Amino acid sequence: MGGGIQDGQPNRPLPQAGSSLIERIAGEGEVGGAGSGSETWGHGAPLRRQSPIDLRPLAVVRSASTQDYREIVDQAAAAFSVWRMVPAPKRGEVVRQIGTVLRWHKRDLAEVVSREVGKVRAEAEGEIQEMIDMADFAVGLSRMLYGITMPSERPGHRIYEQWHPLGPVGVITAFNFPLAVWSWNAFVALVCGDTVIWKPSSKATLSAVAAMKLIWPVLKSNDLPDGILNLVVGSGPSIGEAMIHDRRIPLVSATGSVRMGRQVATAVGARLGRTILELGGNNAAIVSPSADLDLAVRAVGFGAIGTAGQRCTTIRRVLVHADSFDGFCASLIRSYQELHIGNPLEDGVHMGPLIDAEAVNAMQAALQQLKDQGGRIIYGGKVLSGGLFDAGTYVTPCIAEARADMPIVHEETFAPILYAIRFRTMEEAMANLNAVPQGLSSAIFTNHLVEAETFLSAGGSDCGIANVNTGTSGAEIGGAFGGEKDSGGGREAGSDAWKAYMRRQTVTVNWSRKLPLAQGIEFKVG
Ligand code: UN1
Repeated sequence: MGGGIQDGQPNRPLPQAGSSLIERIAGEGEVGGAGSGSETWGHGAPLRRQSPIDLRPLAVVRSASTQDYREIVDQAAAAFSVWRMVPAPKRGEVVRQIGTVLRWHKRDLAEVVSREVGKVRAEAEGEIQEMIDMADFAVGLSRMLYGITMPSERPGHRIYEQWHPLGPVGVITAFNFPLAVWSWNAFVALVCGDTVIWKPSSKATLSAVAAMKLIWPVLKSNDLPDGILNLVVGSGPSIGEAMIHDRRIPLVSATGSVRMGRQVATAVGARLGRTILELGGNNAAIVSPSADLDLAVRAVGFGAIGTAGQRCTTIRRVLVHADSFDGFCASLIRSYQELHIGNPLEDGVHMGPLIDAEAVNAMQAALQQLKDQGGRIIYGGKVLSGGLFDAGTYVTPCIAEARADMPIVHEETFAPILYAIRFRTMEEAMANLNAVPQGLSSAIFTNHLVEAETFLSAGGSDCGIANVNTGTSGAEIGGAFGGEKDSGGGREAGSDAWKAYMRRQTVTVNWSRKLPLAQGIEFKVG
């Protein structure tokens, strides 16, 4: 098993002149959204994809019907029985080859992401780089799925733990990181010996199809069966529901809203399955009086505006000491004024469109609530129009002066709104940082050791991610990624997040010729 896996380069396909990856995929106008290794098909509802850049139609993706879903899960379950027996380092070799293909197609694939979800080119390429980093990490991990040994209290006995593949893993991803978050899960799952069933966001289906069409040939060229990496495009109520209730899927890793996370946790928990949940964030950065203000302004700017404020790690609240509040806001406004907003495929553009008109409306509704609750917009927050902007998806990022106790400040609005809030004491800042339901990411800007260590202490930030002198977003893949409280509690990507994708087995071997029992129990019959 796995004898077909060759240590070598996958065959590099000849470049196809004159047509971009998205044109090649969407060339026929309609693309199947279900597949398990070769073709894509779909018998469900058509999803009309249009670019948020200019509302131009991209393609029609045919979602999976529930029958298509069942076939895919059958394939994933069958492939699992093969894949789990392939030695982990050989599985790593396959992931290494996937990383190579991603390196070749970094620009192509990034362009699909930009066109489909509106990310600026540099960030879209960063997303593909995140996949490549994840592949590299997983390759090393494939030789480090360590179990520990422990001394036995019984003579002639050995006790140790080993980790076995878990089964087909369900991965539900959001539009904002349409590919990187899948790779956090999929590449770890692959080296762990699991097969993967991926339900991408209905707003980012072409990116998913494009990635699969690039990656599947790697599996084929290693003589591996279909069913190892599977795609099922479909809505939450149809495909998502089927997945969370499906006992053949022992782990569901889902990224999305808190509401969705509760549904996933409830359904998967009821069948005693496992979940990894990566839900909303409402991330705050504290700017202390000792901070390097230039550095803080740059970091907060990127954290609030990157991906047009549509990261779960976006800085949504900046807590600034009252003495430096006005100066900080003035510098931040100056940097916002220099931003280039426009076509994300053009060089020099910092911020592209929001994902759709619905997101723009949600942003406007949040700003209305902010005003109703006594807040004040100090920069931006406008819907842009004229030329390309007539798509209705472009906004100016907003800075709003707010108070920590305003209800709107406690909510995650997936848009570039930054609430600037004053504080007088560090205790007050820390309390406000933690006073929201979410607990994903946090940051402090300080040159004061005691402040930094207080923030990092057990009584400090209650988030899964806590950064000093760098923003809340832009995490590297090497650490475990995830948050506490309403952010879901899951961990993905690096560190020991792999353990959730495997089953642990505690083994006791008696190599003596006697039968001593643990706890000194004597059991003699006759
Ligand atoms: C997300 O927004 O769901 O840390 C993930 C970051 C990125 C990943 C964000 N590496 O901002």
